[in-house]
Amino acid sequence: MKAVVILPTYNERDNVQTLLDGVRNAWKKIPHHSLDIVVVDDLSPDKTADVVVEYHRKQKNVYLVSGKKEGLGKALLRGMRYAIDKLDADIIVQMDADLSHDPGSLPLFLRAIDDGGDFVVGSRYIDGGSIPNNWAIHRKIYSMAGNAIVRFGLGYLRVHDWTGGYRAYKREFASRIMSEMSLYEGYVFQIAFLDKAIHAGARVVEVPIQFSDRRFGHSKIAPYQYIRDILWYVGKERIQVLLAGSFGKFLVVGSIGFIINTVVLEGLVLFHFHPTIGSIVGAELAIISNFVLNNAWTFRSQAIDRGLRLRKFIQFNATSLGAVVIQAVSIAIGTAFFGVNAYRVFYIVGVAIGLVWNYTMYSRVIWKQ
Ligand code: GDD
Ligand code: MN
Repeated sequence: MKAVVILPTYNERDNVQTLLDGVRNAWKKIPHHSLDIVVVDDLSPDKTADVVVEYHRKQKNVYLVSGKKEGLGKALLRGMRYAIDKLDADIIVQMDADLSHDPGSLPLFLRAIDDGGDFVVGSRYIDGGSIPNNWAIHRKIYSMAGNAIVRFGLGYLRVHDWTGGYRAYKREFASRIMSEMSLYEGYVFQIAFLDKAIHAGARVVEVPIQFSDRRFGHSKIAPYQYIRDILWYVGKERIQVLLAGSFGKFLVVGSIGFIINTVVLEGLVLFHFHPTIGSIVGAELAIISNFVLNNAWTFRSQAIDRGLRLRKFIQFNATSLGAVVIQAVSIAIGTAFFGVNAYRVFYIVGVAIGLVWNYTMYSRVIWKQ
């Protein structure tokens, strides 16, 4: 199969030649896959491109793709597009071009593909993988914490290294998710790309890598922007996953009901009604809102037929009465012991217990499959 190794470079003049030699050398152990190399350079001021052009004279399978600087993610995308459209790649490999990624590990990546992997992740945080020993403690913590946020935030614990840039994957997955990737310009690209590949059904395999510090040039990462992008990405994905399930939607609908309930309760208290009365009226109005919204959104796939709606609404009132009773009892008991002013605390307690009751009733009784 045809493999294309993508090397993003920005001011890597002193690294790129050694790396190109290293990749070609490592490929002697991978004779059953043909090799092309694409250096994606963003018009580096240090003239990295000149080195590559010179190299290309002797090695025709080394290509240079130049463009303006739009971040690491955009550069990787540009490289992938070239690899697929121009070079007809079957397998795409990406690695940092600053010698932090050892080309000696390349056979490991290709073997994992041969063995049936779709997406091979070079991992510093599995057995045999490592980060530099001499990293200051804050840098170690920073890297591990970033990874942990992504790993646990996205909820795929099987993958241990989300942020790295040493990977190999089948063309199929790259071309399937590339169109969704243009949003992620910077280093967060690595995270989003892996996440989307998993969503697309890629079989992910990790291989250990030993990450070493660059010796020439310097890192282009912008830490604050990177942290912000990671939190934004993980947060956005979490919310989407939550909203895709019925419990998340139930919570949103319930929150709207809660607001209606609260406004009515507080309004009636303002007009000198007893809070117990206020909570009953408020809850009844919230019930109507809950029924309509849950039927139209949360449980849309089990939406109630027109003819059954009135009966179900009465049934819904009956089950929801359970929540009203729970809430009223909570307030009644609470205010009896702690005085009328304590009603707010016991209102919240009642709402929390009522929530569990409601979801159980809605999914098991009202909108039963
Ligand atoms: N073309 C292009 N355009 N290349 C870029 C750009 C860009 O805007 N920004 C960075 N690169 C290239 C660098 O020249 C290098 O070859 C590679 O991308 C990695 O960049 P570094 O600046 O060396 O990143 P790092 O070592 O700080 O970051 C490492 O950790 C990140 C988080 O774990 C790398 O392993 C990243 O790939 C990784 O995402
Ligand atoms: Mn680096």
